[in-house]
Amino acid sequence: MKKITVIGAGNVGATTAQRIAEKELAEEIILLDVLEGIPQGKALDILQSSPIKSFDSHIGGTNNYTDSKNSDLIVITAGLARKPGMSRDDLLIANADIVKSVTEKSVEQSPQAIIIVVSNPLDVMTYVAFKVSGFERHRVIGMAGILDTARFRTFIAEELDISINDIDAMVLGGHGDSMVPLVRYTTVSGVPLSELLSKDKIEKLVNRTRNGGIEIVNYLKTGSAYYAPSSAAVEMVEAIVKNKKRVLPCSVFLNGEYGLENVFCGVPIRLGKEGVINIIELKLLPEELSALKKSAEDVKANIKKLRI
Ligand code: NAI
Ligand code: 2OP
Repeated sequence: MKKITVIGAGNVGATTAQRIAEKELAEEIILLDVLEGIPQGKALDILQSSPIKSFDSHIGGTNNYTDSKNSDLIVITAGLARKPGMSRDDLLIANADIVKSVTEKSVEQSPQAIIIVVSNPLDVMTYVAFKVSGFERHRVIGMAGILDTARFRTFIAEELDISINDIDAMVLGGHGDSMVPLVRYTTVSGVPLSELLSKDKIEKLVNRTRNGGIEIVNYLKTGSAYYAPSSAAVEMVEAIVKNKKRVLPCSVFLNGEYGLENVFCGVPIRLGKEGVINIIELKLLPEELSALKKSAEDVKANIKKLRI
C-alpha cells in the first residue's frame, strides 16, 4: 500500500502510526490533527527512530487535509475523551461532530480510500463515517472486536498459564457494556474453554473483558488504553494491506445479517484488500442471538440521538 493517513495524533493515533511505520505497511504515512505542532513533532520523532528500528516508510505530520490526498487507507482516531461534567450523550454528540467533519474532509481528498474507525462510541462513530462518506459498506469498518477479543484471550492465558498463541476467542456485539463474548467459540488448541474452567471462572473473565476499557481508565485516570487498541487497529491495516483475508471480529454495517438492519455491530468478517470481503454468519444459539440483538439495540438507541 502506498499511503495511509491516521487522523488524530493522540495516544491511539500516534501509536498506530508508529506501528504502521515499524511494520512498513505503507510507503508514506500522514499523521493529521487539529493541534498545531503535535502531529508534526510526533511524526518527526517516529521518523527519527527509523534508522534504529530499520524501516523505510516515510512519516510526516500535518494540520492540512491536502497532505492526505490520495490515501489508500484512513484510520480515524480523532475525538474527545470524556471529561468531568460531561455526560455520555455530550461525548456522543461532540465526537459525532468531529468524526463527521474529519470524514468529510478526508474523503474529499481520498475518494477511493478504505476507512477504519477507532473513535468512540465506536459502532456509532463508524455509522457516522459510513453515512457521511457515502462509501460502500465494505469500505467503512470499525475496530473494537479485535481489542475485546485480545483482552479476553489475555485473561484466559493468564488464568490457565498457557501461551496466548493457543487461545482462540470471539467477542461480538457493540463496543460497550453489552458486548457479547462467545464462550462457546472460545477454545484452547481446539479444546472448548468450558472443559478447562468452571462456569463461575469463565463468567469472571467475561465480566473483566466487558470492563476491560474502564479497568485501564481507572489506572491511567487521564486517558484510556492505547497500546492494545493501536495493535488491534494495525492488525486490520495489515490484513487489508497484505490482502490476508483474515477472519476478524469487526464492526460493520449490517443489512439483514443476524436479523439486524441499518446498524453497525461487531461480527466476524473476512478482511482483505477491498476491505470487508464478506460477513460470516455464525449459527448462534437463541440466547447468543438475543444478546447480540440487545447489543445492537443499544447502538441503535445512540444512533437515534444524532443529528445525521
Ligand atoms: P487522545 O485524546 O489522546 O487523542 C485524540 C486526538 O484527536 C487529539 O490529539 C485531538 O487533538 C484530536 N482531535 C480532536 N478533534 C479533532 C479533529 N476535528 N480533527 C483531527 N483531530 C482531532 O485520545 P486517544 O486515547 O488517542 O483516543 C482516541 C479515540 O479513540 C477516543 O474517542 C477513544 O475513546 C477511542 N478509542 C477507541 C477504542 C476502540 O476500541 N474502538 C480503544 C481506545 C480508544
Ligand atoms: C477501550 O476499550 C476506551 O474503548 C476504549 O479501552
